[in-house]
Amino acid sequence: MKIKAIYEKPELVRANALALPVSADGGASKSEQTVDRALGGIIAEMRRSGELKGREGEELTLTLNRKFQSKRVLLLGVGQRKNLSAAVLTKYAGLAVRTASRRGFAKLALALPEQMDIPDIDVGEAVATGALMATFDPAPYRSESESKTDLVTTLSVLAPASARTRALQAGIERGMIIGEAANAAREMVNLPANEITPTRLAELAQQLGRQHGLKVDVLDRPQMEKLGMGSFLSVAAGSDEPPKLIVLEYKGDKRSAKTLGLVGKGITFDTGGISLKPALDMDAMKGDMAGGATVIAALAAIARLKPPVNVIGIVTATENMPSGKATKPGDIVRAANGKSIEIINTDAEGRLVLADGLLYAAKLGATHLVDIATLTGAAVIALGKTTTGLMSNDRQLADLFHEAAAPTGERYWELPLFPEYAELLRSDIADIKNSGGRAAGTIYGAMFLKEFVADKPWIHLDIAGTSWTDKESGHLSKGPTAVALRPFVRLAELFATRDLHAQADEAAQRRFADGALSSVLPMADASPRKPRSIHS
Ligand code: BES
Ligand code: ZN
Ligand code: MN
Repeated sequence: MKIKAIYEKPELVRANALALPVSADGGASKSEQTVDRALGGIIAEMRRSGELKGREGEELTLTLNRKFQSKRVLLLGVGQRKNLSAAVLTKYAGLAVRTASRRGFAKLALALPEQMDIPDIDVGEAVATGALMATFDPAPYRSESESKTDLVTTLSVLAPASARTRALQAGIERGMIIGEAANAAREMVNLPANEITPTRLAELAQQLGRQHGLKVDVLDRPQMEKLGMGSFLSVAAGSDEPPKLIVLEYKGDKRSAKTLGLVGKGITFDTGGISLKPALDMDAMKGDMAGGATVIAALAAIARLKPPVNVIGIVTATENMPSGKATKPGDIVRAANGKSIEIINTDAEGRLVLADGLLYAAKLGATHLVDIATLTGAAVIALGKTTTGLMSNDRQLADLFHEAAAPTGERYWELPLFPEYAELLRSDIADIKNSGGRAAGTIYGAMFLKEFVADKPWIHLDIAGTSWTDKESGHLSKGPTAVALRPFVRLAELFATRDLHAQADEAAQRRFADGALSSVLPMADASPRKPRSIHS
């Protein structure tokens, strides 16, 4: 799909369809009024009757008359005006492209909401990201697809003034790179485990590396044995597919002392191992490499956008299978830092591979660490399918991540890592054990990983609930979401511009978790407030 910003009146743009945002409040916009007048007041009439409300996600296609160069208008709800944001624009553009594609409109023009408080470059990025993500094909194995997702070939974004096309176009270029990366991650997650083996995942990473100028290194079992990665290799023991440790390096600032390390769980299929999972929904475990796919795709996007920053990506790729060679509950293994681990449950394999992955990232020079994993079913219980669990040992890095994620509309919520939780880690026979039972399952996963980051600032993202969506909406179809991909790209860019300390400030993080927010975050209004009567 080609996307370009042009300066043209909605009436005069020549396309198969014109997408128009309609808001839920504040009355009709100028372009809505123009269309309404040309159609003899039908839109105003539908608003009055309640058939058109302007709610987010709402969609209505009308036929235009000869006063327009386009044949159809797609009226798409964008919700309340005060809630207009880059995230809403991504969903709006995504819905426009999905709707147009379903109807077979190859040329689509997209009008923007009037009066937005968002810089044009961010508008362009948000729109192009949504449009690109909407072209993702969730069913590549269907012989005859009922709904083609790639039918829109050109998208013209209507600039509100000719002077604004340049900034919009610059944002569009960024959004296309980010959207392509998101789709690459989604494709990897969606492909079944007989296609995406650890070997194939490594090849895909190498291919992306060659395309976009990334250094990609793949370590195999003998190399990992030499490095003492007994934790990672214990997960691979039961599989006939050779494990791969994928290392991607982007060096955008040779003089910088800091390096961002992104570490992704790359279990290409998780049967649970000897602690075998039940059959129900086990097929979903083809997506247990979503964290790894996101790291690979994020590095590809970063290499194309070229921010002045150093980033290392690590993906720990293996299957988790039962067999005569498989690791058994009660087995004890050693991670690369020498820590002994009692394996209570072979289904708690993500933390085992990430432990060695995090250690290796630090060994290669990462000064700040972020890991991403479909780690625990408990994350779905705690936060549901819309919110990613975020755990960290460092306030500064966690805040930077929130800043990077905010414009994407993705939700992240912090869970505490109080020292009391460490008790769950205690093993009767080894340094630690890999499962502490059902209580605080998501936190326990993070507490385990924390043992392997030394005192480096670190964030853990548990995407078990958010890497896959069961319903289509906005720019997303049913299936993989590429959650955290967009925040990762922004995080790398912010990381380039900020002075960050190199040692985790656990005390500040703990004050935050204790609820003493004011000691960490500046209060919006520090002046003492008069208590207000509930009757006034
Ligand atoms: N990959 C799973 C977690 C998962 C579950 C992701 C459902 C997405 C949807 C992970 O490896 C796992 O099996 N975790 C166990 C941990 C437990 C044994 C401590 C879990 O959540 O049950
Ligand atoms: Zn798993
Ligand atoms: Mn598992």
